[in-house]
Amino acid sequence: MRSAAGDARWGSGVAARVLDGRCVLKVADGSIASKRHGGARIWDADSLSEPHGQADKSGRVRRMFDAIAPTYELVNSVFSLWRDRYWRRRCVELAGPGSGDVLLDVACGTGDFCRAFLEAPRPPGRVIGCDFSENMLRLAADRSRRRVRWVRADAMRLPVADECATIVSCGFGLRNFQSADVALAEMCRVLKPGGRAIILEFSRPDHKIIRGLYEFYCFRVMAVGATMISRDRTGAYRYLPHSVASFPSPREIVGALKRAGFSTAVVRPMTFGAVSAYLATR
Ligand SMILES: C[S@@+](CC[C@H](N)C(=O)[O-])C[C@H]1O[C@@H](n2cnc3c(N)ncnc32)[C@H](O)[C@@H]1O
Repeated sequence: MRSAAGDARWGSGVAARVLDGRCVLKVADGSIASKRHGGARIWDADSLSEPHGQADKSGRVRRMFDAIAPTYELVNSVFSLWRDRYWRRRCVELAGPGSGDVLLDVACGTGDFCRAFLEAPRPPGRVIGCDFSENMLRLAADRSRRRVRWVRADAMRLPVADECATIVSCGFGLRNFQSADVALAEMCRVLKPGGRAIILEFSRPDHKIIRGLYEFYCFRVMAVGATMISRDRTGAYRYLPHSVASFPSPREIVGALKRAGFSTAVVRPMTFGAVSAYLATR
């Protein structure tokens, strides 16, 4: 088992403690506003030409989410045309939770996926959300009225014992990781045999005309509109469409899930293939 406790990289505001697979998040006093990064540019034309190839992608992504955290949910809902809640609900249905389940939500952000699981007819008995952005996690902790344990951790090195979860979920996180392969192997490691992973990620519609409309929307409408609403200066909403366009296809992701150790993996496209849900069994 590995522990994130006392790791200097995480600063002093939030500390994760992991004991025998039990995770506790301590959130120190301090406002989100005081932790804003001031929106310095993170993504420029050069880095956007190869967003997944940046050696410091992880650090860029963390600073970016720390900066956009306060408006993240609003922008998500508006520019997904309020489909994001449906996508997560559909994933919860696919995962089919029950009261005996232990859910680990990787890259939980402000906690939307955890909340979707808790709203299921038979919610998981234990829910742990982990993310490496302090500002996203603070919002998650502020908003959660139900029992969720929030952990500050890197998806590349989950501070969780082997085979301690029965469901691992990950919503719009995979594309952001330094290495999707490493993160998938971690998700597989922490799952009990027979456990399932449910992963939600943007994808590109197959149909040529729909793909053209989708890319116009993402690169032009969303990139400009979301940047204005969030008053973002990091380039987050230019990174988003570039990172989707250059990310492996759903078929390649299914292959990566199998290479990571999952015995079965299937993909379910939604909304004309603009997003895909991956269900894999360890
Ligand atoms: C697009 S948000 C998704 C949030 C949430 N899962 C949802 O469905 O809205 C992506 C999240 O991934 C987190 N993230 C990216 N890379 C990470 C990593 N290596 N370890 C932990 N969290 C990471 C970011 O901090 C951010 O909160």
